[in-house]
Amino acid sequence: MTLAPQTDLAPAAADVILSARDIAVQFGGLRAVDGVSLDVRRGEVVGVIGPNGAGKTTFFQVLSGFVRASAGEVRFLGDPITNLPPEAICRRGLTRTFQIVEVFPSLTVRETLTAAALVHQPMAAARRVAEETAALVRLKDKLDLTCRQLTLPDQKALEIGKAVATRPQMILLDEVMAGLRPSEAEEVVALIRRLRDGGITFLVVEHLMEVIMSISDRVVVIGAGRKIAEGPPDEVVRNPKVVEIYLGEEFELA
Ligand SMILES: Nc1ncnc2c1ncn2[C@@H]1O[C@H](COP(=O)(O)OP(=O)(O)OP(=O)(O)O)[C@@H](O)[C@H]1O
Ligand SMILES: [Mg+2]
Repeated sequence: MTLAPQTDLAPAAADVILSARDIAVQFGGLRAVDGVSLDVRRGEVVGVIGPNGAGKTTFFQVLSGFVRASAGEVRFLGDPITNLPPEAICRRGLTRTFQIVEVFPSLTVRETLTAAALVHQPMAAARRVAEETAALVRLKDKLDLTCRQLTLPDQKALEIGKAVATRPQMILLDEVMAGLRPSEAEEVVALIRRLRDGGITFLVVEHLMEVIMSISDRVVVIGAGRKIAEGPPDEVVRNPKVVEIYLGEEFELA
């Protein structure tokens, strides 16, 4: 007997970097996430959309270890990571940004990125990673500014930079473009594309549909804690269920 069938199957399985199965989160009487399953392949940008309070952030919090799943399993690079502490998940190469930009206003860009890089390496190496990361997110000439001196677009670049400095294989972006003008959001989209071309996989929650449409290889729609649609962006926005619960008629006609 040959091993051919097994090797034929291997690449497809190896392609999946993140796999979530039947994830549920219970907050008292509220089932905020109610049985969501999702596979993300290496190198993909997957968009996640849905109404306010649908459970998108809570789902991200489970993937990144900030909230305990009451049921289900998360695998990253084939290994179970369900309910591991956030630092342990980050060290394996899966990291996230926060919906509310989380920087210490009095720290400099250099200090902020160095602190993030310390997850993986000792101080000297972390300082180097901080400089490399600043170049990547176009904050090299602002390394010694404090976070409070940054413009909003630069704060967003730093928020992504904090994730990049942990040397991740995959980043979860939670509404990182909220509050930006369209031209500023385009810059962030370009940054995400550059990072994706550099080998980082993305799961992206955004309400800005232009962004989701332009950046996503695939879109997942969450409504009331459940996955209600999944597919190519242009297909998903025409799905009547998605129009009904999230996009509205106007978008359908556009
Ligand atoms: N720590 C918590 N304790 C109790 N309920 C919570 C907690 N976090 C979120 N919720 C509730 O869980 C539900 C899902 O919230 P979540 O923040 O995940 O939604 P979301 O899809 O990210 O919404 P948005 O688009 O507004 O960011 C909401 O009803 C919210 O009020
Ligand atoms: Mg949210």
